[in-house]
Amino acid sequence: MTSRATIIGTGSCLPRRILSNQELETIVETTDEWITTRTGIKNRRISRSGEETSKLAAGAARQALEMAGLVATDLDQIIVATVTSEMTMPSCACLVQKELGATRAFAYDVNAACSGFVYGLDLAEKYIRAEPDLKILVIGAETMSTRLNWQDRNTCVLFGDGAGACIMTGNNSGRGMLASQLYSDGRLFDLLKINCAVSMNPDLSLADHDGSYIKMAGRDVFKYAVRSMEKAASMVLDKTNLTISDIKLIIPHQANIRILKSLADHLGTPLEKVYINLDKYGNTSAASVPIALDEANREGCLQENDLLLLCCFGGGFTWGAMIFRW
Ligand code: COA
Repeated sequence: MTSRATIIGTGSCLPRRILSNQELETIVETTDEWITTRTGIKNRRISRSGEETSKLAAGAARQALEMAGLVATDLDQIIVATVTSEMTMPSCACLVQKELGATRAFAYDVNAACSGFVYGLDLAEKYIRAEPDLKILVIGAETMSTRLNWQDRNTCVLFGDGAGACIMTGNNSGRGMLASQLYSDGRLFDLLKINCAVSMNPDLSLADHDGSYIKMAGRDVFKYAVRSMEKAASMVLDKTNLTISDIKLIIPHQANIRILKSLADHLGTPLEKVYINLDKYGNTSAASVPIALDEANREGCLQENDLLLLCCFGGGFTWGAMIFRW
């Protein structure tokens, strides 16, 4: 039987500080009622010193290693999906490598915004298909709080910090990744973006630069998110000759409860099949799918051979879906 890329350990790490909707009411002109009804979010986590992106990432990785029964020096590769590393260079993945002591691994970051973790899994799968014994650590880690304009109520209520991780290796039992499909459309870059820090080259400064904050056209993003995730999910179902009723659990990017309800409607599946934890953490960008995956795994939502559908959407735009036999 062909070897497939299988997830053998998951982990997550959240900052200790909880920021509630009620507390946000004292920061910007908003209400718990508005945030809850429009988004489903009640709380989010906010990092403090010692909880930088790489530190959260390493915390999640340690849990995943422990579950997999591996030590850091067993790792061959570290992929970190992030848009909020504490450094532009070196990569967050190299900081994680140092933190873990994963001396045998090579390490690099992936930037596909909120879709980054799913992109990372896809990359890892390609390596494992070529070399099934590889042990690859894939992490989604973000400190979105560092890129929010805390005066902009349109965005600052939506996001949070955290990290999730998993370890993949080859397995020839028939379990593992069955199909994956990724997409991007750079023509839509302007609808969801974070400008880089001020340019030291005045000739290359952006004309519209008013801070390296997240900027978003909320309604457009909403519309595209539902349509894109639905199309990607349908594509991987087609590729595997499965239907949505075969799927045991759907773990989508956790952005907004209304997006998830609409996605479930479009896919023709009850909301109970969709794993939801955005009420606790808000949108943690690339960390949202792996945090949810780790929670679902530890809660025992997935039994051996269950079919799992992941779908993602983010800035770029980027989106995609994949199916695992757990
Ligand atoms: N508190 C109170 N009022 C707020 C608010 C807040 N935090 N944020 C916006 N508003 C106001 C707006 O100013 C607007 O007021 P107006 O009608 O007087 O102009 C009103 O609420 C409605 O705004 P609108 O943008 O129409 O709301 P919406 O129903 O589209 O919900 C989002 C806004 C952002 C929650 C929604 O569009 C969304 O979730 N989009 C997707 C965002 C996302 O997931 N991004 C990341 C994807 S990876």
